[in-house]
Formats: sequence, C-alpha cells, structure tokens
Amino acid sequence: MILDGRDPAAVSAAAQALHAGELVGLPTETVYGLGADAASDTAVAKIFSAKGRPSDHPLIVHVADASGVDHFAREVPAFAHKLMQAFWPGPLTLILPRRPEVGAAAAGGQGSIGLRCPSHPVAQALLLAARALGVHGVAAPSANQFGRVSPTTAAHVQGEFGDGLLILDGGACEVGIESTIIDCTRGVPVLLRPGRITREQVQAACGLRLLDKADVASPAPRASGTLEAHYAPNAKLRLMDGRALQTALDVLGKDFDGATIAVYARSLLRVPSSKVLYRRMPDDVAATAQQLFAVLRDFDVQGVNLIWVETPPETPDWEGVRDRLQRAAAS
Ligand code: TXA
Ligand code: MG
Repeated sequence: MILDGRDPAAVSAAAQALHAGELVGLPTETVYGLGADAASDTAVAKIFSAKGRPSDHPLIVHVADASGVDHFAREVPAFAHKLMQAFWPGPLTLILPRRPEVGAAAAGGQGSIGLRCPSHPVAQALLLAARALGVHGVAAPSANQFGRVSPTTAAHVQGEFGDGLLILDGGACEVGIESTIIDCTRGVPVLLRPGRITREQVQAACGLRLLDKADVASPAPRASGTLEAHYAPNAKLRLMDGRALQTALDVLGKDFDGATIAVYARSLLRVPSSKVLYRRMPDDVAATAQQLFAVLRDFDVQGVNLIWVETPPETPDWEGVRDRLQRAAAS
C-alpha cells in the first residue's frame, strides 16, 4: 500500500507500524529503504527474510539527528564528529563502534554499527515520529531483493515487495545512488562505498587522508553493498568506451534482428537499427546518478537482453556511478 509521505496521518501510521515491529518502505534522498525498528532483533529479522539477504550482512541504521548516534555508538572519534557536522543530514553513512547491548541483529553481529541521518523530509518526519514512540533508529537497507537494483521510486518498492508493505511515497530520490560509507572504527577514515559525497569532500571536511579498503589490514565484513557483483539488472550489462561501443553497433548492422540491446551512452552514437534502444547518459554526474537505477529498471521492463553502457569519465566525482556500473557489469 503506497501512502503519500507528505500526509502526517500516513507518517504517523508508518511510525506506529515500526513501533509494532512491522516493516515500512521509506524514501530517502539516496534510494528507498526497507525499514524496521533497529533495536528489535525480531523486526530486523523480517528485513533479512523479505530481502533474501544473508543475516550476517550489516544494515544501515537511520537516526533523526546526530543526537541519535550515542544511542547506538560506543564512541565517536573527532573526525567522525566533523563528518557529521559537514554532511548530516545527508547521504553519508558512518561505521562506528557499537554499544554491545543494542542493534546486534541490525549490525549483522558486527561489533560496529552503520549510522546515517537522511535529509529527505519524509524520512526526517518518520524518524522523528518513530522516536517519539521510543524507536531510536530505523534499520533500512535499500528496498530491493538481495543483489537487485536499488529502488528510487515508491512504485519500484511495491514491485519488489508487493502491496502488503506500507510504503511512504516521497517522490523520485534526488541522489539516486546509495550513501557514501566511511569506516570510522580504525583511527583513520576508510572509504567502504563511494557515493555522491566524494573522497575530496570527505578529506576536506575532516582534514585527514581517506584510506581505501585495500589499504587496511583486516578487511571490512562481507556486505552486500560492497560485493563485487551487485546492483544487477536482469539483462547482461557491459561497459565499453565510446569508440568500442560504436564499433559494436556498426558490427550489428542495420538488418540486426537478434537480442534486444539497450545503449546508455554520453557520446552521440550512430545506432544501426530501431531494435536498439538508445538512451543518452547526461554529461552531469548528479543527473546520471539520479536516473541510473531507474534507467536500468526501465531496460528490464522493456525486455532488454543486453545493456551496453559507455564507461563514465575517470574523474573523482564519477566514482560512485562508476562503482555501481562496475558491480552491475560483474554480475
Ligand atoms: O543510501 C543508503 O545508504 C541506503 C538508504 C536506504 O539509506 N541504504 C543502504 O543500505 O544502502 P544497505 O543495507 O543496502 O547497505 C548497507 C551497507 C552494507 O552493505 C555495508 O557495506 C555497510 O553498509 N555497513 C553497514 N553496517 C556496517 C558495519 N557495521 N560494518 C561495515 N559495513 C557496514
Ligand atoms: Mg542495497
């Protein structure tokens, strides 16, 4: 059931559902989440079973504001405080040492916990209403079946979980790819997942060099958002530079009548056949991220077998989009 997230009665119903241990679909500025009371291990177990996600993959817990952090985190390093000040509310998740008595299931059994304060007004309203009922954090992975493309509209969420789920509609997500994740449990910041907030922005805000997963001794836990093959559409996705893509199209020829192929490219390409769906990728990274998952879902709906994507620019601001496309191509 999709309810208008701007309606206070809908927000209140969703908060009560969370309080009662039920699941709720909620909009955030990045992607839609499948939420449950983070303090309730039985509510959190419903997320894992609905998604078909291994229960040792940690979830992100959403809080209404920075004051919610102390409920879940045992300690917060100074650089993490700086990151919260700079980017919250917004598309940044911090991994912090967890208070042992709270959120074990949400954390997938880790001694740490991922915390994020989303800026979407409907998410904010829901988190505040839930907190008033005693729900201090909402565990919410992206609201899609395990391994699938994240949802950026309420209709996508309904398509994943059916009409039985209460979903707050907050419109199409503005960021479009999942939050940037920074591990703050190792004394220095470590980038676990790139997103809209770039590594330059993170470094500037905390005054420290941001390390990569590969730079640290013991790796982060196996986690869905960091699996090499993830975010996959049904169609097989291939990344090619503009010239290779044009060559591949030329080889098809005009009488091509095989598999349905979709092309998503920034370059202006000659498309040989009307059987090839051609969608221009915006030059602007924010616009591309915003539409990326919806475009991939749309190709699936149209029964496409192959998706040929032009490799995005190698510049730092495109890192989040490149990461999602590389994972989709690895599936
Ligand atoms: O934008 C987002 O972050 C979205 C929206 C709904 O907020 N949420 C999201 O959640 O992407 P999810 O559960 O799909 O991604 C969780 C990822 C894990 O795959 C892992 O990479 C990281 O967050 N994570 C969470 N808790 C962690 C922990 N304790 N240690 C290490 N990584 C953790
Ligand atoms: Mg996900």
